Amino acid sequence: MEKAAASAPGKVILFGEHFVVYDNPAIVSAINLRARVEVSTYDRRGVWLRDRKVVNHPAVRAAEYIIQNKGFSKGLNINIFSDIPPKVGLGSSASVSIASAAAASLIIQGRIDRELIAAAGFEGERIVHHNPSGIDTCIALNGGVGIYRRSKGFTKIHIPLETILIIDTGRMRNTGEMVKKVREYMENNRERFNEILVDAEELVNIVLDMFKNGDLEGVGKLMLRNQALLREVGVSSDEIEEAVRLALKSGAYGAKLTGAGGGGCVICLVDEDKIERVYLNISNRFKVYTVRLSAEGVKEEEI
Ligand code: PMV
Repeated sequence: MEKAAASAPGKVILFGEHFVVYDNPAIVSAINLRARVEVSTYDRRGVWLRDRKVVNHPAVRAAEYIIQNKGFSKGLNINIFSDIPPKVGLGSSASVSIASAAAASLIIQGRIDRELIAAAGFEGERIVHHNPSGIDTCIALNGGVGIYRRSKGFTKIHIPLETILIIDTGRMRNTGEMVKKVREYMENNRERFNEILVDAEELVNIVLDMFKNGDLEGVGKLMLRNQALLREVGVSSDEIEEAVRLALKSGAYGAKLTGAGGGGCVICLVDEDKIERVYLNISNRFKVYTVRLSAEGVKEEEI
């Protein structure tokens, strides 16, 4: 194969970001914003991004990993088309890494080698995350909704929620820095941090029961408790707090930051009947996306 394309979804973490780095469980869903990566063989060795040599790019690093692992003697040129806004907590770097690795795997192996692209995607992700938990690449690979735990991997679940609103606070930030910030908090407040981990895990367990019972109002309240824990470890921001307040005022059941925080995106849990009204109200102040949850994982695309 001389050319191949693959796409992978972005994600929202519904509960448990940051704490997942410390082997706590998190609930994560793929969303219907996707990154598409086209890859073709190239007459110069190595991986090129639109005919340019770029270092420290997650998609480039992921494709390099496949080349190195398979001993491919030619080069690859990649092209990225993504509707996932970068650096706002929606897993854009993991998604481009996984899609790039999948397209490279299609060219070199003639199929998507899921195990190899998982490892390649993680390598790509290491460029932007200080110490990735692996949650972003895992959901980009698998799609759906599930519980992720570093030591146990991913278990798909079903939740009674199809759509969620995402508020983009407009402030970009760096995931690695936010992860380091939480580590510093942990180092200075070890006892309290352990209590927070216990609380955050308990929240996830209660939420799973609430999802089973269809209690979205209850889930919304627990989002606010999760947000309070994230605020305490230092990853909220004025914009995030303003977005959460506005979401609640507009009629959402709950809202919290999603991803690394410090800016980026806030998710709002809203009753299906109210989505349009809440959307309109919030969009007077922030950019808002209505996204569908449980989107499909990585897949081959037509080229
Ligand atoms: O902001 P994002 O999309 O890079 O998500 C980061 C999620 C964290 O839990 C903060 C880090 C991680 O590797 O799990």
